[in-house]
Amino acid sequence: MNYQIINSFINKLDPELAHSLAIQFLKNIYIPLFPSKDDEILKINILGKEFSNPIGLAAGFDKNAEVYDKIFALGFGFAEVGTITPRPQEGNPKPRVFRLIEDKAIINRLGFPNQGLTKIKTRIETKKLEGILGINIGPNKDSVSRIDDYVECFKNFHNLCSYICVNISSPNTENLRNFHQQENLKKLLSEISNIKNTLNSKTPIFLKISPDIDDDNIVMICKNILEFNLGGLVLTNTSIKLRDNLLSKQKDEIGGLSGTSIKETSNLIIKKFFKIVKRKVPIIGVGGIDSGISAYEKIRAGASLLQLYTGLVYKGPFVIRAIKQELAELLKRDGFASLQEAVGVDSE
Ligand SMILES: Cc1cc2nc3c(=O)[nH]c(=O)nc-3n(C[C@H](O)[C@H](O)[C@H](O)COP(=O)(O)O)c2cc1C
Repeated sequence: MNYQIINSFINKLDPELAHSLAIQFLKNIYIPLFPSKDDEILKINILGKEFSNPIGLAAGFDKNAEVYDKIFALGFGFAEVGTITPRPQEGNPKPRVFRLIEDKAIINRLGFPNQGLTKIKTRIETKKLEGILGINIGPNKDSVSRIDDYVECFKNFHNLCSYICVNISSPNTENLRNFHQQENLKKLLSEISNIKNTLNSKTPIFLKISPDIDDDNIVMICKNILEFNLGGLVLTNTSIKLRDNLLSKQKDEIGGLSGTSIKETSNLIIKKFFKIVKRKVPIIGVGGIDSGISAYEKIRAGASLLQLYTGLVYKGPFVIRAIKQELAELLKRDGFASLQEAVGVDSE
């Protein structure tokens, strides 16, 4: 069946119900569904790991780490689960996810609903790891010390994944984005670096950044990233801005906007960071990817790896195969011998 037909049915469902049906479906089906071998040109080495393709699942889809094994089988090159907090929490009151169909966008104000560290850790420990896994961590809403929450999550998860993503950019946990300010960021990164050193952990730390920041902020964040020798950046999370050109009637819902409407802003942020950190700090580009060309734009802007969420909602799982195929064609068309060669060519 054509995904457009399935999607017109899904669009009638409550977005959260549709999401939990998708998770149940993935949990219960046997995959390999799409056992295709990736084109060699899509291969990339980052932080000593070989990714067979750069397309990853963005945080928020598999919040409780229930289906990431199936995600690998769908053809993704890697998956990021979470955001996971130390204690389980419900998140904000419903409704809290809105599909802006005319804009191919989503606004969400979920507020990190998740089953909490202990349960999710056991789940990850009992699954055989057959792909590259990132774990995205954050603080509980009512936490006494948000930094302690990040540290607690790092301690518990660092040896179960390929990288830890420190999420300071969700707009749905009040004041979380204050970690984009110099003093707060420095304190957070120094505490996480301390625990990493104490544990003698080799797991790279990625920092996930908001698209709603200015140039001074970018310079300051880059300084800290380099000073604390972070593993990488995830650019970007959802936006609380960019509402003016939206068509859908839910455009003024409070929350973070994702999808094609944030693509250009996210690309610009990637370019600005890449100009400063160059190839010293790998960038995972995320925001509005739903085609080969949108993936290619982010690579050329400076991303070595990519992620998507909203594109998957609107175009379905077959989009992964299409993106990989188109991206390989675009790289060859422009004479690149590898994905790595194309990284950042529009930002140099
Ligand atoms: C419903 C929904 C829930 C999300 N939850 C999280 C989350 O828990 N943690 C996080 O770091 N990002 C979360 N995100 C942000 C995505 O990971 C991604 O950064 C953003 O949606 C932009 O990518 P996209 O345009 O491909 O969706 C969420 C996004 C959506 C749409």
